[in-house]
Amino acid sequence: MIRPGDVVVNIERVCVELEQLAQFSDSPAPSVTRILFTQPDLEARIFVCERMSQAGLQVHTDAAGNIFGRWDAGDPLLPPVATGSHIDAIPHAGRFDGTVGVLGGLEALRTLRESGFQPKRPLELIVFNSEEPTRYGIGCLGSRLLSGQLDTLRASQLVDTNQVTFEETRRMAGCHGSLADVVLSPGQYHAFVELHIEQGPKLEEASIPIGVVTAIAAPAAVRVVFHGKGGHAGTVLMPERVDALLPAAQLALVVEQLALHEGGHDTVATTGLLQVHPGAINSIPSRVTMEIDVRDIELDRRNRVLDRIQQQAQEIGNDRNLKTTVELINADPPATCNPTVVAAVKDTCRTIDVTCLEMISRAYHDALFMALIAPTTMVFIPCRDGISHRPEEFATPEAIKTGIHVLAGTLKRLAE
Ligand code: HGY
Ligand code: MN
Ligand code: MN
Repeated sequence: MIRPGDVVVNIERVCVELEQLAQFSDSPAPSVTRILFTQPDLEARIFVCERMSQAGLQVHTDAAGNIFGRWDAGDPLLPPVATGSHIDAIPHAGRFDGTVGVLGGLEALRTLRESGFQPKRPLELIVFNSEEPTRYGIGCLGSRLLSGQLDTLRASQLVDTNQVTFEETRRMAGCHGSLADVVLSPGQYHAFVELHIEQGPKLEEASIPIGVVTAIAAPAAVRVVFHGKGGHAGTVLMPERVDALLPAAQLALVVEQLALHEGGHDTVATTGLLQVHPGAINSIPSRVTMEIDVRDIELDRRNRVLDRIQQQAQEIGNDRNLKTTVELINADPPATCNPTVVAAVKDTCRTIDVTCLEMISRAYHDALFMALIAPTTMVFIPCRDGISHRPEEFATPEAIKTGIHVLAGTLKRLAE
């Protein structure tokens, strides 16, 4: 029996919106490819803004392309409680990474409004821009700028593979104004809670419906470019070659060995991007670019492996007489979530009789940077077989509904 004031999640509405959002993609269903400021992303942004406006939120976009939907309630002078996530997606990804936090956050605000809840302070939904590193090589571009963790000149000069700068694409997308105005100061938000699929198997294996995040792993990324001589694959004899792909192949295996033998159980390292120039079967690679992702929940251990990878890249290049450039793209500290906000999630779970598991996030999220300027935590829901960043990514309507219910209850607790 539904009583006045109860939070009633309309999961059918959310599932329709998730399906609609998934249509904005540069790859065929069930995969989703939605790269920053490409046509699918621009259309998805319009779709989400329309849904936010229809929900009665005041919507605006900042110069970095972060979208804000504000529920002007309570005392406007009090810092808002916020929720949110991202809608961009890496190539051939799934349809739940990020979108559950955006459309689930929207539903949480809708259900609170529909329940007649009168918050003491404003609430806000944030759609962070470019959480994925695909186009500009650095993750969390929007939330880094919001939290002042990325120099605005460096951000504006980031270039994509077509040498188009972030400054150009943001302006073409209609994000005007100065990036310097994007930066928020600590205290501008009372609390931030992000709803997200776990992107790992723990909750499903334990048959636990909710995870509350106490720490977020420390991500780092390195770009290595090997410059060889290139040449004709038929006429340049082996002893005369300076093949740029071979040191890259060597380094990719070294990356794996360093993570396995010089890191720890929680150290992961991935060569996820390898670009071969000119990329023809009968042309010796003259330039190879690698991007390497290194993470750990322990900062010193992550940095030790990261340093070794950079040293090894230079040594392997030198041994083969290639010019080698090694660029550290980012090396972020881990985030510790706020115990009071974590407790708000756990109290909500207790109130609605939902089991909750404290856990760390091995994936990074915009919450990693929001934690630098606001008391922050994350609510995780299970995803099938822990799969993510693949078209098979899946979360059941029931799991999503429970996550939204817990999020709405937590936001209510923080805003009353
Ligand atoms: O890579 C990550 O951890 C996030 O899903 N972008
Ligand atoms: Mn992702
Ligand atoms: Mn994500």
